[in-house]
Amino acid sequence: MEYIGATGIPIELSDVPIKEGIDFHFILSFAIDANPSGTPQNGIFSPYWAATLTPDAVAATKSLHPNVKVLASLSGWSLGGKTLFWYSPPDRNLWISNAFSSLKSLIQTYNLDGIDVDYEKFPDKKNSDDSFAYCIGELITFLKNQSLITVATIAPFYSTVSPYMSLYEGYEDVIDYVNYQFYTDKVKTPEKYVEVFRNRTLEFDGKILPSYEVNGRGIQGDAFFEALSLLEDNGFSVNGAMIFSADASSSDGYYYETKTQEFLLNNSTN
Ligand SMILES: *[C@@H]1O[C@H](CO)[C@@H](O)[C@H](O)[C@H]1NC(C)=O
Ligand SMILES: *[C@@H]1O[C@H](CO)[C@@H](O)[C@H](O)[C@H]1NC(C)=O
Repeated sequence: MEYIGATGIPIELSDVPIKEGIDFHFILSFAIDANPSGTPQNGIFSPYWAATLTPDAVAATKSLHPNVKVLASLSGWSLGGKTLFWYSPPDRNLWISNAFSSLKSLIQTYNLDGIDVDYEKFPDKKNSDDSFAYCIGELITFLKNQSLITVATIAPFYSTVSPYMSLYEGYEDVIDYVNYQFYTDKVKTPEKYVEVFRNRTLEFDGKILPSYEVNGRGIQGDAFFEALSLLEDNGFSVNGAMIFSADASSSDGYYYETKTQEFLLNNSTN
């Protein structure tokens, strides 16, 4: 899983090296329930990822690499300097209906395969867990039921575990992977990485994927690959990985993307 397009640099899907024999998911960042000045639109999502990531670019990449799937990630951290948050819509069913139709249109325009859920702030402590679980869980359920998507992923981190656990507990059946943001746990060594992974597996079980932030927080450099091996040594199966982001990797030749795919491919033949 690779996030792409959040910084606005003119990045291309075709820049990213993709190996055969692996499921490669691009996560377009981000589709946002807001107008360009950041005002919420009651569930009407618009695409704010890099303008280079067009429907034609998606089509070209998919025809060259049949193993590629493309997802839209919902929300993210901010839009034009304005922090985004889950606002517990007063009319939940209207929000779901607006989200369903606006995402249906995006999914059909861009020929997307799924959505990723990346709400990162929940100021309404009292109602958030319940409204987030219901609105997002029902939305994913409807999108899957109408065969508009085949993949749904969620992206919790340490301070958002609670609403995402409510969502996961109610709707586990329609959630395929958990892109847990391990880099937010400030873990720097392979041993500690395994410890945090073990802890988070208790919350989100076997659907959780290890993750890496390029030029970012948490474990850095080849220690990440030592952590992946150590996970295997400790009996965890590494079924995939999430990387944030292609934008950051574009200046260093996609080292982590290449090496992660090699790790997963070697792994699957064991
Ligand atoms: C959608 O929901 C209906 C009603 O519950 C069910 O009969 C149908 O099998 C579902 N379709 C899919 C693709 O999940
Ligand atoms: C893992 O969970 C245990 C038990 O809650 C806790 O003591 C420990 O600090 C956690 N480890 C990390 C690295 O967060």
